[in-house]
Amino acid sequence: MNFSKKNDNFLKRTLLLTCISLLFIQCEAPTKKEKTTGLISQKAMVVSAREEASQIGSDILKKGGNAFDAMVATQLALAVVYPVAGNIGGGGFMVYRTNEGKTGALDYREKAPLASSKDMYLDKEGNMIKQKSTLGAMAVGVPGAIAGIFEVYEKFGSLPIAELIQPSIDLARKGINVTKKQARSLNRAREKFALANNYTILLDKEWKEGDKLQFEELAQTLERIRDQGKDGFYKGETAKKMVDYVQELGGILSLKDLEIYKAVWRKPVTFNYKDYTITSMTLPASGGICLAQILKSIEPFDLSKIKHNSTKYIQLLTEAERRSYADRAHFLGDIDFVDVPVDSLTNTEYINKRMRSFSWDKATKSSDISHGKLKGYESDETTHYSIVDPFGNAVSVTTTLNTGYGSKVFVKGGGFFLNNEMDDFSAKPGVPNVYGLLGSKANAIAPEKRMLSSMTPTIVEQNGKLKMVVGTPGGSTIITSVLQNIINVVDYGMGMQESVNSPRFHHQWLPDTVLMEPNGFDSITKANLKAKGYHITERNTLIIGKVDAILVLPNGTLEGGADHRGDDTAVGF
Ligand code: GLY
Repeated sequence: MNFSKKNDNFLKRTLLLTCISLLFIQCEAPTKKEKTTGLISQKAMVVSAREEASQIGSDILKKGGNAFDAMVATQLALAVVYPVAGNIGGGGFMVYRTNEGKTGALDYREKAPLASSKDMYLDKEGNMIKQKSTLGAMAVGVPGAIAGIFEVYEKFGSLPIAELIQPSIDLARKGINVTKKQARSLNRAREKFALANNYTILLDKEWKEGDKLQFEELAQTLERIRDQGKDGFYKGETAKKMVDYVQELGGILSLKDLEIYKAVWRKPVTFNYKDYTITSMTLPASGGICLAQILKSIEPFDLSKIKHNSTKYIQLLTEAERRSYADRAHFLGDIDFVDVPVDSLTNTEYINKRMRSFSWDKATKSSDISHGKLKGYESDETTHYSIVDPFGNAVSVTTTLNTGYGSKVFVKGGGFFLNNEMDDFSAKPGVPNVYGLLGSKANAIAPEKRMLSSMTPTIVEQNGKLKMVVGTPGGSTIITSVLQNIINVVDYGMGMQESVNSPRFHHQWLPDTVLMEPNGFDSITKANLKAKGYHITERNTLIIGKVDAILVLPNGTLEGGADHRGDDTAVGF
């Protein structure tokens, strides 16, 4: 075929597709939406990945505790009832807003061990060693969760610490009922449990719905934390068990790493979107910066003229996401180690300039997009829980071991999993991590450095009042799931549960594909997108997020949005 003939055929095909698209543009089938209302409560609410954890958090609030007390209790309860992501061997981020309107953020992200090095996951030829950063003892970062809860407690806690920890000790001892989804998840991980450990761990059995799972060793670890404070984890018996076992398996975590770990209070990313003020996590979490970039990219467009989840809607968000994730890969890393131009990256003029190449006619190719040029250089499985207390304080926490059950290393005698957060570093430029995310020098491994995260615990205010507490797990899809829920509520007037139920999609620059929830989007929309050059991947994925959120309704009551993609549940009063 000669060039002009090929070109001719291409033109004909494009014309045909354009005509089909034009025919359908006016009559896109509406996206199926469940009109569901979530739990409504008068005063307080906790929404988390499991009912038992939400109940424990809510009970603390009922006893007169505040949102920060409930944070401590909920974090530990999730470590028992939701071991796939709830943790004491991982880390996370908290964004808060007090009833006086003060906002802040805590970083209790894991750190690279002192003995880590830039090329620790590469072989002699400079190639990535398969699974070394994801499975087993070498994948473990220094855990931050226990330092995090004590930092929160020391600054804001009101009830005695023992009262916040005891419910989780009791739950661990009494045992939990394995749910259907949990049994499936545990059974799927068995092979990896065996590969990562040198003994048969407690969870390495064939599980079915309704089975009882008791955690005696974890109960004892929690007792040491109850009695000795954070030293009950970072020093003494628990620390020794952790380090001995990791080193027995060939890992590099040391007692010194544990001893020097500190959680850090950080200034969150705060920005305006329309009438709303949004506060989200800053680096080493990329969520706040990317959320600000994407929302500011779409702000000039009139969403009241664009139907929710329509071709145009998906195009607009995808193009904004594509540009933001390209910046993420190039610029972002731990601000304690690299100079990240946060103000320039979230500058409206810069963002508008980035969006100038966007066209409604066809997809921008990710290969044509790189990070932007800045004017100045200044500055599956995770889990999220949202809490509002009767005093009006709000807490938004995302916490993780990274992938499900983290490194799968289950501390012998300690009864808990250790994270595989080291995979969130960029182990080799140009080689994607487990979420397909690329990174640059800014996110290279260095001793004591924190790995870049996508976690996006977020609080939305309107006219100086609390409006929404939101967040989700989902690796690289965290940012876009939080984004879509904010837009669902503020631009499309959805209730919280309706918003959480709504089908979601995701684009992260590379790979250049729109990831869509199966059966969530109509075939005409998909055909239109394909005609414009968008690649679509539709599959059941563990990582489109499980959003747990709370919305303050106009009459002051709270509506929970608990994601039924998991066992997530809202409890309140
Ligand atoms: N481990 C997933 C994240 O922090 O983004």
